[in-house]
Amino acid sequence: MSGRKKVCIVGSGNWGSAVAIIIGKNTAKSNQFDPIVKMWVYEEMINGRKLTEIINTEHENVKYLPGHKLPENVIAVPNITEASDGADILVFVLPHQFIGRLCDQMKDHVKRDAIGISLIKGIDEGPDGLKLISHIIREKLDIEMCVLMGANIASEVADEKFCETTIGCKNKTHGQILKDLMQTTNFRITVVEECDTVEICGALKNIVAVGAGFCDGLSYGDNTKAAVIRLGLMEMLAFAKLFCKGPVTSATFLESCGVADLVTTCYGGRNRRVAEAFVKTGKSVEELEKEMLNGQKLQGPQTSVEVYKVLKQKNLVDKFPLFAAVFQICYEGRPVRDFITCLQNHPEHL
Ligand SMILES: *[C@@H]1O[C@H](CO)[C@@H](O)[C@H](O)[C@H]1NC(C)=O
Ligand SMILES: *[C@@H]1O[C@H](CO)[C@@H](O)[C@H](O)[C@H]1NC(C)=O
Repeated sequence: MSGRKKVCIVGSGNWGSAVAIIIGKNTAKSNQFDPIVKMWVYEEMINGRKLTEIINTEHENVKYLPGHKLPENVIAVPNITEASDGADILVFVLPHQFIGRLCDQMKDHVKRDAIGISLIKGIDEGPDGLKLISHIIREKLDIEMCVLMGANIASEVADEKFCETTIGCKNKTHGQILKDLMQTTNFRITVVEECDTVEICGALKNIVAVGAGFCDGLSYGDNTKAAVIRLGLMEMLAFAKLFCKGPVTSATFLESCGVADLVTTCYGGRNRRVAEAFVKTGKSVEELEKEMLNGQKLQGPQTSVEVYKVLKQKNLVDKFPLFAAVFQICYEGRPVRDFITCLQNHPEHL
C-alpha cells in the first residue's frame, strides 16, 4: 500500500452514515488518504428519487440519518464492484445478512493487500455455533480483517457527543492507519491486538442486555441490573477465553468494546427494550420482533441460540447460567422469574 489510500465504506445505514461523516472529514484534511471516499448505498427510491442521487446532490442520507450533512467528498455509489474497485481500506458497516452476497460480488475485484474493518455487530450461525462476521469476510475475500466496536450509539456519534471506541487489529501499523482514518476529538479510539475478543464482546453483550430487560420487566432496580452487568461480563470473558483461538485478556474487557458497550446496551438499546416487553406482555420473541422491529431479528436471543450450541457441545452449559437462562427463557418456556434465581445461585468463580 503506497500513496494516498483509497477508502470505501460498504453500507450506508444509520451507523454507516455517521461513520461516513467522520471518515469524509478526516480524509479531506489528511495527505495519507485519497479525499474521495466511495460509499456503497443499497439503491432505493425515496419519493420518486434514487437515494444515491439525493445523497450526491443534497449530501444528506434523508432516509437513515436525516438532519446531518455528509461531507461532499463522500460519493454514494449503488454498484458494489464500482464502489470497492481499487480500495485500500474497506469499511464494512451494514446488516450482516447482506455480507455473503456482497462479498461474492466483490471478491474478484478487491486489492490483495486491502485492509477490511468490520463495524458490524452481530454474529452468524455456523455448524458448530456462532461464527464471527469478520471471519466470514476474511474467508470470502482473503484480506486482513480488523474490527471496531464500542459504546457508540449512532445518533450520538453523528451529533458529535464524546464517546470512546475500540479497534481490534493484529498489525500495529495498520491499527494506526485505521485510527488516523477514524479518530476525532469526540470519537476517541484505542487500538488493541485482540480483534476476536473485541468482536465477540459486541455480540455477547446483547445476551446480557436481554437479561437486563428481564429484570426491568420484573420491576427490579438498579442494584439488580448492576449484578446482571457484572455477572454477564464474567460470562463474556469466560466465553471469549473458550471460543477465541488467540489470546484473551481481561484488559480488553475494560475498553469501550467491553464494559462501556455493555453498560449502554443494558440501559438503552432494543434488546433490553424488547426483553422488558417480553416479560410485560407475555408475547413470544417472534411476535415482538414483528411488532416492535418490523420483523427484524433481535440480536440478543439469536446470539444466545448460537452460544448455547457451543456450550452444549462442550458440555459447559452449567458454567454459563446467565447465557443459558436467556436462551431457555426466550425459546424453551423457562419462567422469567428463574432469571433471578439464576443470579442468586450464580457461581462465584467461573
Ligand atoms: C457494476 O459495475 C461493474 C464494473 O463497472 C459492471 O461490470 C457491472 O455490470 C455493474 N453491475 C450492474 C448491475 O450495473
Ligand atoms: C504489518 O503490515 C505491514 C505493512 O503492510 C507489513 O510490512 C508488516 O510485515 C506487517 N506486520 C506484521 C507483524 O504482520
